[in-house]
Formats: sequence, structure tokens, C-alpha cells
Amino acid sequence: MVCCNVILFFNLVSLVIAVPFRDEYHHDITEYDDKINLLRYNNQENNAQFWLDGAEKTLKEKIEKKEQKGIAKNVILFLGDGMSMTTLAASRIFFGQQSKNPGEETVLSFEKFPYSGLSKTYCVNSQVADSACSSTAYLNGVKGNIKTIGVTAEVKLRDCDSMNVPEHQTSPVTSWAQAEGKATGIVTTARVTHASPAGAYAHTAHRDWESDSDVSSDKQDPEKCMDIARQLVTQSPGNKFKVILGGGRGTFMTVNDTDPEYSNKTGWRNDNRNLINQWLDDKKKSGLSASYVWNREDMLKVNNTDCILGLFEPSHMRYHMEADPQMEPTLEEMTELAIKILSKEDKGYFLFVEGGKIDMAHHGSLAKMAFDETIEFAKAIQKANEMTSEKDTLIVVTADHAHTMSFSGYPQRGSDILTNLQQSGIDLLPYSTISYANGPGYKVNTTDPSKRYDLRYDNMSETRYQFPSTLPLSSETHGGEDVAVFSRGPWAHFLTGSFEQNYIPIVMGYAARIGPTGRIDFPSNSGSSIAKNHSITIIISSLLIILFTKIIKIHN
Ligand SMILES: *[C@@H]1O[C@H](CO)[C@@H](O)[C@H](O)[C@H]1NC(C)=O
Ligand SMILES: *[C@@H]1O[C@H](CO)[C@@H](O)[C@H](O)[C@H]1NC(C)=O
Ligand SMILES: *[C@@H]1O[C@H](CO)[C@@H](O)[C@H](O)[C@H]1NC(C)=O
Ligand SMILES: *[C@@H]1O[C@H](CO)[C@@H](O)[C@H](O)[C@H]1NC(C)=O
Ligand SMILES: *[C@@H]1O[C@H](CO)[C@@H](O)[C@H](O)[C@H]1NC(C)=O
Ligand SMILES: *[C@@H]1O[C@H](CO)[C@@H](O)[C@H](O)[C@H]1NC(C)=O
Ligand SMILES: [Zn+2]
Repeated sequence: MVCCNVILFFNLVSLVIAVPFRDEYHHDITEYDDKINLLRYNNQENNAQFWLDGAEKTLKEKIEKKEQKGIAKNVILFLGDGMSMTTLAASRIFFGQQSKNPGEETVLSFEKFPYSGLSKTYCVNSQVADSACSSTAYLNGVKGNIKTIGVTAEVKLRDCDSMNVPEHQTSPVTSWAQAEGKATGIVTTARVTHASPAGAYAHTAHRDWESDSDVSSDKQDPEKCMDIARQLVTQSPGNKFKVILGGGRGTFMTVNDTDPEYSNKTGWRNDNRNLINQWLDDKKKSGLSASYVWNREDMLKVNNTDCILGLFEPSHMRYHMEADPQMEPTLEEMTELAIKILSKEDKGYFLFVEGGKIDMAHHGSLAKMAFDETIEFAKAIQKANEMTSEKDTLIVVTADHAHTMSFSGYPQRGSDILTNLQQSGIDLLPYSTISYANGPGYKVNTTDPSKRYDLRYDNMSETRYQFPSTLPLSSETHGGEDVAVFSRGPWAHFLTGSFEQNYIPIVMGYAARIGPTGRIDFPSNSGSSIAKNHSITIIISSLLIILFTKIIKIHN
């Protein structure tokens, strides 16, 4: 308690009491301290020209921006799991504040993309999506039921027979890409068999059926309802992925296999199948060079391989802030390797990259960790943006669903996004800028349960600080509002406005000429094939004019 009393004293000084004014709605806006503000932001911000110049620069970028209307040889879909728009606003501030800037003016890598839109995330039977039904939407173009993956809404949760009916199985964008000779891959910081990446290859009536032991512990027959890991290694399109990088060694190894990193752990499978060995054998049989790696050092040594399987933890990869940087690669490093391998393909590729731990951090109300994972996600996108051209590579960045985190109050400009406190005029106790509608951060004052917990006892910049919530839940929930979609590259301008989440792969397929909309012609003014026809016409007519002029000259 000695430490906490120090914090209590420190934070009291910074609390400013709200002064009520005539306006009945905004009286919680405190009188700001101008001296603090001037220290925090650029003096130029007091100048009208500063703002007009900035806005004009943005306008000129729009004027000069040429819509990309060629064929997308490559498509990369970046999925920030649970990356709500509130997460973006808070993460960019957190990022800017790490460089001692006020923070609000910071721009995350993908926020510089020229186009953005809004995606509606609800699923067929649920108002708020989970990562399973949403991955069916943004990877298969079809909405299904909550907790199911790669199947239509005909398939109810746990309905094994129904999930095996071919008409109930949806076709993912990875299959569309493979059908046109493109290479495919998945990268994630979660288990590679977790709900989001599973939408790229699996058909299942339950997202939890990741290994055969998960299926049997759910009282189902794993020989009948094939687990997700086995689908990845043995079924199409997963069995043709050239890149699989992420966590989840456990679902690939048997209970008799000792984990290479943790000698006190084994695999999870009960069916005697070591899927790592099977994957290596299959690639060898197909005449492809293949590498399996389980740590960062080995991954960075991989060079000139056709296929890679990297599984860096028995379960999900660790939070970036807690991972051993020698043992686990960053999302950026995995993305870079994936693009290097896939770029060798003549016909291009489709790559799925997930920042899988933003969601997990939010579920634990670990906002600081969620912001850091968002920044790591942005770094991976920055790398992909640098490694590819917008002329032939469509990059789409989105989230599967939102979360309940709110960013509220009237904190002064440049206030620490994690620790700033304001005071309620009602109970005279402080409240934080970041809080959740529900979750494990709910606390009451145990000595006086009629009172709210006094946040000045807490150190809110701790990595695992659980931000306060209005009501108690063991795991904070998803949010139902729309999520943002940012894009650049061919036909990215078609991902603007407000649309259903399942529209996203339809645009990716159209741009890359794959899947159900891959044969729909580009509009006649698109400047691609038509323009070529036009230029041929122009060249031929110019030649004819020159020829005729010469003939006329000769005759004269
Ligand atoms: C397994 O080993 C790790 C260290 O490698 C240790 O931290 C952990 O507590 C051990 N777990 C069990 C169940 O013994
Ligand atoms: C594990 O090894 C034992 C002993 O060799 C064997 O009986 C059992 O079938 C194996 N189990 C699995 C899941 O491979
Ligand atoms: C990978 O191989 C290529 C060609 O063999 C070589 O030029 C390059 O230096 C190698 N890179 C690394 C990191 O070993
Ligand atoms: C609980 O309430 C008591 C009495 O008002 C107060 O002294 C104490 O600081 C509060 N503690 C917390 C953790 O809110
Ligand atoms: C609060 O936590 C941060 C991050 O762990 C640490 O750097 C800081 O020293 C802590 N503050 C106090 C007063 O303990
Ligand atoms: C361009 O010309 C070719 C050959 O005449 C034709 O097949 C093709 O459809 C034309 N493209 C468009 C977009 O009209
Ligand atoms: Zn979640």
C-alpha cells in the first residue's frame, strides 16, 4: 500500500474540478491549463494558416490521386482482430506519445491509404459478430451463423452432418486464387487454426474444433467432423498454402510429441497424426522445397524455399510486449518473409495477415496491450506497402468486429491516453479516458461498496492494467458497430461508402480477376484493356495518316 499512497497523492494534484456553466450538456469540460497545452503542441496550431495549409495539402493529394484500374496481380488482406475505430484513435495517440508528441495528430501507416469505407459486421443469427462468422463473410463473401466458419447459415452450431454437406460449404478467396494459378498464404499472431485464419480454408460447425481432441471433448466424432488443423494440412485449399506462419503447434502435434521449446509440454492431438511431418512429406511428394521452423532465428535463416510452415508457440503467439524477441518473430517479420516467398510467383498471390492479439487484449481489458498490438499491426502493413506497388497489388486493411472500449471525457490536448483522470461532479471521484462497457476491470470500493472504486490507487500505465468497466464480465465482449476498411491499389476505390462485410472479398476477387466476380468486365472507361485497344487504334490511324501524307507528297 505504500506505493499506492504515493500514486494517490500524485494524481490528486492533476485532478481539476469541473466548473458548471450555462450550457447544460458540456459542463464536465474543465478549464484547461494553457501552460500545459503550449508545452504539448506546436505553437503554429494557434495560427489559421497552419490548419488551412494542412487541409489544402490533403485536397491536393486527392486531386492528384489517380484511381488504379488495372488488374490486381496480388491481394493482401490485413485483419486487425477486434480493431474498432476507437482502438485506432487511441492507438495512434499512444504511438505518437511514445515519440513525445501530443499524439492526436499521429497517423498510422494504413490511415494514409487513399480510400476508406465502413463494413457492417452482423452475422445471420447474431447482432454482434464473433471472429468465426465474420471470417466467413470477409474471406468467403457469405454471412453465416456465429461460431461457425466457412459454412452457410443452414449449418447450426455443432451440426456436424450439415457442415459436411457440400452445398453448405462456402468457397474462400484462397480457393478462387488457387483456381487461377495464384499462390496463397496465411500469417497470424494467433493459432493458425484460430477463427480468423480458419476462414481462409476451413468448413466447420464449431470454431473450437481446432484439433481432434477438441472435437472429442465436445462429444463429437473427430472422424466425422474433421478438426480445423487437419483440414488445413490435408484438405483444399489449405493443403496448397505456400505460407503458414503463426502460433498453434499444439494442434499439429500429438500428446506423445514433446514440444521443441517447452520440455514440459506436448501436442494436443489424440489421433497419432503429427501434422507437421505430414505437411513436410506432402510438400516433398509435390516436388516443392519446404521448411518447418518454430523459432525466430530459424525463420530468419530461411532462404529460397517454395513453402514455409512456422509455428512459434504451442498456442497463440505471445503479446509483442511480453514475447521473447529472440524466440518469436514480429508480425512485421513474418509478413516480410511471406511476401518475399510469394512474390516469386509468376501469377501473383493472395495473402491473409492477421493481428490476432488486439482482440485478446481487449477481452482482458488490457487496453495498453491492445494499442501496442495495433501498432505492431500497422508496422506489418507499412512493410507490405513498401514491398509492393499500388499498380498491381491491392492491400485491404480492416477488422472483423469492434469492442466495447470507449474513449471519453474532455481530456486536455496531449493528455496521457492511459493515465489521465478527470473528476465526476456527482461522486467527486475520478474517471479515466479509456474504459469498457463490460469486462473483468469492474471494481467496487470494498470498504464502502456504495462508492465507486477510486482509480487513483492504480498504476494505469502497467502493461497488464485492466481498465475499468461499467459491469462485470469475465471476458469483455465484442462491439456491434461498423468497422473501418482502408485500402490502396487496383479497385480500392470500390471499397468506399458503407457496405456489408461480405462485399470485401467480392471486390478483391473482381480486382484480381478471380472467384465469382472475377469475370465481370471492368467498366469501359477503366483505362485498362479498353485503353490498350484505344492506343492500338491511335497508333494504327497515326501510321495510316503518315502513309497517306507520304503518298500524297510522292504524287505531288
Ligand atoms: C513448464 O516450463 C516452463 C519453463 O519452460 C515453466 O515456466 C512452467 O511453469 C512449466 N509448467 C509446468 C506445468 O510445469
Ligand atoms: C502414444 O504412445 C503410446 C505408447 O507408444 C501409444 O500406445 C499411443 O497410441 C500413442 N498415442 C498417440 C496419440 O499417438
Ligand atoms: C538468399 O539467397 C540468395 C540467392 O541464393 C542470395 O543472393 C541472398 O543473399 C540470400 N539471402 C540470405 C539472407 O541468405
Ligand atoms: C473506499 O472508500 C473509502 C471511504 O470513502 C476511501 O477512504 C477509500 O480511499 C476508498 N478506496 C478505494 C479503493 O476506492
Ligand atoms: C507504473 O507502471 C509503469 C509501467 O510498468 C512503471 O514504469 C512505473 O514505474 C509505475 N509507477 C509507479 C508509481 O509504480
Ligand atoms: C480489346 O480488343 C480485343 C481484340 O479486339 C477484344 O477481344 C477485347 O474485348 C477488347 N477489350 C475491351 C475491353 O473491349
Ligand atoms: Zn474476440
